[in-house]
Amino acid sequence: MSASDKVRIGVIGAGNIGNVHINGFKALPEAEVVAVTDAYRPLAEARAKEHGIPRLYGDYREMLQDAGIDAVVVCVPNDMHAPIAVEAMEAGKHVLLEKPMAINADSAKQIVRTHRQTGKVLMMAHQMRWEPLNLQVKEQADKGAFGRIYNVKTGWCRRKGIPGWGTWFTQMAKSGGGPLIDIGVHMLDLSLHLMGNPKPVSVFGTTYAEFGPKKRGIGTWGKPDWNGTYDVEDLASALIKMEDGSTLTLDVSWAAHTDFVSNGPYVYLMGTEGGAALTNGKGRLFTELFDRTADVELTVPSDDEGARSRMSRHFIECVREGKEPITSAMSGLANSLVLEAIYESSRTGNLVQLDWSV
Ligand SMILES: NC(=O)c1ccc[n+]([C@@H]2O[C@H](COP(=O)([O-])OP(=O)(O)OC[C@H]3O[C@@H](n4cnc5c(N)ncnc54)[C@H](O)[C@@H]3O)[C@@H](O)[C@H]2O)c1
Repeated sequence: MSASDKVRIGVIGAGNIGNVHINGFKALPEAEVVAVTDAYRPLAEARAKEHGIPRLYGDYREMLQDAGIDAVVVCVPNDMHAPIAVEAMEAGKHVLLEKPMAINADSAKQIVRTHRQTGKVLMMAHQMRWEPLNLQVKEQADKGAFGRIYNVKTGWCRRKGIPGWGTWFTQMAKSGGGPLIDIGVHMLDLSLHLMGNPKPVSVFGTTYAEFGPKKRGIGTWGKPDWNGTYDVEDLASALIKMEDGSTLTLDVSWAAHTDFVSNGPYVYLMGTEGGAALTNGKGRLFTELFDRTADVELTVPSDDEGARSRMSRHFIECVREGKEPITSAMSGLANSLVLEAIYESSRTGNLVQLDWSV
């Protein structure tokens, strides 16, 4: 593919986030959404009509045979991420894969192996890395302004935010977990990125389910199915240790009696020379000057184009230029290994060492 060719995109899964991706690629002149599929055909038909998408498939396997598609976006429930991503790369398609990479580490490793064998672009959809304040903190981290980052506290403690009670979101077999794998994966991914991708080696963690089983803590994302099942956690807390000795604490909930950091996402970076706080849309830098604490407030440019738009463009660039995405297959694997280790640690009560063999 040349650097001026339009990238022809097929969207697999036309639900909430599938629609967000369609809008994102439609806004880019370098991309064209040429096909859509969904297991629920009427939804795919509605999206095709709404967005003027020329080709509609009843099954993702049919779509993968379409030689007029360069790349697919995988926006289906978590249990189908690995099978579809693997088949798509084997069919010669580049893949933008929604988070989490897979429902467990074995499936994530299968994706990594197929990515290596096929040489296709595999990018994880972690839009938080592209938020303007997060980019500013990353720029400072890369310049060494924080010195050695040795401790990070991150999380997202929603008070009343259980999504789609009873649907695939709250069924372990389909989702792989609750808030840890749903929103915790974003915070983990962002934190490891800001820390400069140290290698996680061991994990100690616990999960709880105090709201979901009682049908409490219900949020607004997704329509509940009260005849469905809830067998995932609604809160998780973990300590992750890196090979270089640095540590990360991760706390997430879909539901909890708290207003911790206004129930929004946060990352606190602590380095030897300075620190940063990204809290719910605010960004601050911290250091010590003239024996006094000194803080800098970060601001978002008024003409900022938005994180999702930057993320979609990065994918297109990677496909056109054969580049490795910053949210690479290996970063997806790191997240999957840590998440699975937290669940295992909670089950066994033990510290879990990560198994990086692929
Ligand atoms: N990056 C983000 O911030 C973000 C936000 C929300 C969701 N997500 C992720 O996106 C994925 C989808 O979430 P959602 O909220 O859009 O869910 P959703 O339930 O709204 O949509 C999923 C769609 O996939 C379809 N589907 C199921 N199996 C399929 C198959 N085999 N082939 C084709 N279509 C199939 C369903 O019919 C449904 O329309 C999840 O993995 C979720 O974790 C990411």
